[in-house]
Amino acid sequence: MYGITLIPGDGIGPEVINSAKQIIDATGININWDIVNAGADVYREKGVLVPDEVYKSIEKNKIVLKGPITTPIGCGFRSINVLLRKKYDLFANIRPVKKISGIETPFENIDLVIFRENTEGLYSGIEKQYDDDRAEAIKIITRQASMRIAEEAFIYAKKNNKKKVAVVHKANIMKLTDGLFLDCARIVSESFPDIELQEVIVDNMCMQLAMNPSKYDVIVTTNLYGDILSDLCAGLVGGLGLVPGANIGKEMAVFEAVHGSAPDIAGENLANPTAVILSGAMMLNYLGEIKKSKAIVDAVHKTIKDGKYITRDLGGSSSTIDMTEAIIRNLKIEE
Ligand code: NAI
Repeated sequence: MYGITLIPGDGIGPEVINSAKQIIDATGININWDIVNAGADVYREKGVLVPDEVYKSIEKNKIVLKGPITTPIGCGFRSINVLLRKKYDLFANIRPVKKISGIETPFENIDLVIFRENTEGLYSGIEKQYDDDRAEAIKIITRQASMRIAEEAFIYAKKNNKKKVAVVHKANIMKLTDGLFLDCARIVSESFPDIELQEVIVDNMCMQLAMNPSKYDVIVTTNLYGDILSDLCAGLVGGLGLVPGANIGKEMAVFEAVHGSAPDIAGENLANPTAVILSGAMMLNYLGEIKKSKAIVDAVHKTIKDGKYITRDLGGSSSTIDMTEAIIRNLKIEE
């Protein structure tokens, strides 16, 4: 029996998390879900963004499946996502982006994984307002954080037989910060002579991905560039509703979709649950439940390929619930 913390989150979060939970349960796996919530809705209700019970549950279970959380723009509270990643040192944000058969995309061969440094960079939260007309943000890059994310990316590439790791940077302009990040990737790459290190400046990377994404296997980059490139890559394979993610630390892991709380479609049973379901499959894989994880991925892919029960963002007209039920019907568990 696994103990797992389940955080529904805001906006479409409860809808897509419920879908993922149903599908994971349908595999027959024995999970004791500890359902606790955090975010903007909880704040309105209880006056606190992350109640103590959430921290307690995370610290006890050490594995979390989480829905998106709304973060106000410009003013208001800091991102809970960033806070959790920093607090629990979830240093690697891993986002696989893969073409799914049945979805029309401009490219056929997209199969890459983004490794985004998750604890520092421009998301360190050190900002200062001098007066009405001047503000600054500080970008922190450390050797320790850069080395460990580069190592994760290369280890993943080696394990999964990938031939290339692209380090994405802007070291031509940010010579010290991005220069250090690039330097660490170069040092780590020396221990992996069979894997090619591609060095790509971030603006060029945006163009390369838009024109020829199959040139890339694994991308390793800093926090902000990773955030932006993830959404860009999601757009290449059919949208944010499809791309899962994992935030991994040495002792804990939080699994969540790349997308946010999508307030424009929240509560309407329209959200595509795929990204959170695939995040759940990544979680099962992390737990060593390889067959059940694969069964979920296969059922999702079959449902999308059949095309009968898919949500509006994928060109269909099914609801979140209809798509979830179709995926459950397509689940084939090998014992
Ligand atoms: P978003 O990802 O919520 O939405 C962008 C667009 O994609 C919207 O048109 C939305 O309808 C669509 N979309 C997203 N997920 C979808 C799904 N599963 N199915 C169908 N369509 C989907 O990004 P946005 O609007 O920039 O952010 C909304 C809120 O979410 C913000 O408060 C932001 O801070 C937060 N956010 C939270 C994240 C997290 O908790 N990990 C990650 C990203 C954003």
